[in-house]
Amino acid sequence: MAARWALSAGAAWARGLLSWARPERWLASGSLFPLSCIHTSTSLQRIGKIGKWEKKNRIVYPPQLPGEPRRPAEIYHCRREIKYSKDKMWYLAKLIKGMSIDQALAQLEFSDKKGAKVIKEVLLEAQEMAVRKHNVEFKSNLHIAESQTGRGRYVKRVRCHGKGMFGMMKISRCHYFVKLVEGPPPPPEPPKTGFDQAKEYVQQLRNRTLVHTL
Ligand SMILES: *[C@@H]1O[C@H](CO)[C@@H](O)[C@H](O)[C@H]1NC(C)=O
Repeated sequence: MAARWALSAGAAWARGLLSWARPERWLASGSLFPLSCIHTSTSLQRIGKIGKWEKKNRIVYPPQLPGEPRRPAEIYHCRREIKYSKDKMWYLAKLIKGMSIDQALAQLEFSDKKGAKVIKEVLLEAQEMAVRKHNVEFKSNLHIAESQTGRGRYVKRVRCHGKGMFGMMKISRCHYFVKLVEGPPPPPEPPKTGFDQAKEYVQQLRNRTLVHTL
């Protein structure tokens, strides 16, 4: 961030200097100070910034053995700094998790919330990416493996009340992350009872290796 600022500031400074000094006047020949060596173009400012979530699209798995079933395609997509609350978004994210993409789109279509529209757009983008870039044959053959929200950048604003009083309000923004996986959604896990959890806990205790004891 700092480096980028410095670059753009440097470019702006150089441009300001050039326009102030009018080098084309006193450097008509151009031999003393070749101007082409100073980058004033926007090429320096275009530095690709890519988040952690999108970077997962670049994972390359080792080649598969002949008999192995084909590895399903995974598509990571997100949208950042959505003007919406992360807590309200969470309910929508949770709603569609584990659904097939068509079902999720149908659910969001009939939700009246603002976030539903945004998530629907993100899902459609991800679906398009899947077909175009990730070698997915049928666009309906996808399910939502992960669906998460994140907290964006909040800004504070003054809210004026009467009689010279004021309050601070937070303008909230959120991120939405989705992972699509090729294939139908897996069947839901059978619900765990308290007894199962207790058994697992006891097993976990027995699995411990006690060191420096008798
Ligand atoms: C305990 O250990 C067994 C075998 O080592 C393993 O299968 C099981 O998952 C472990 N259980 C827990 C709760 O860690």
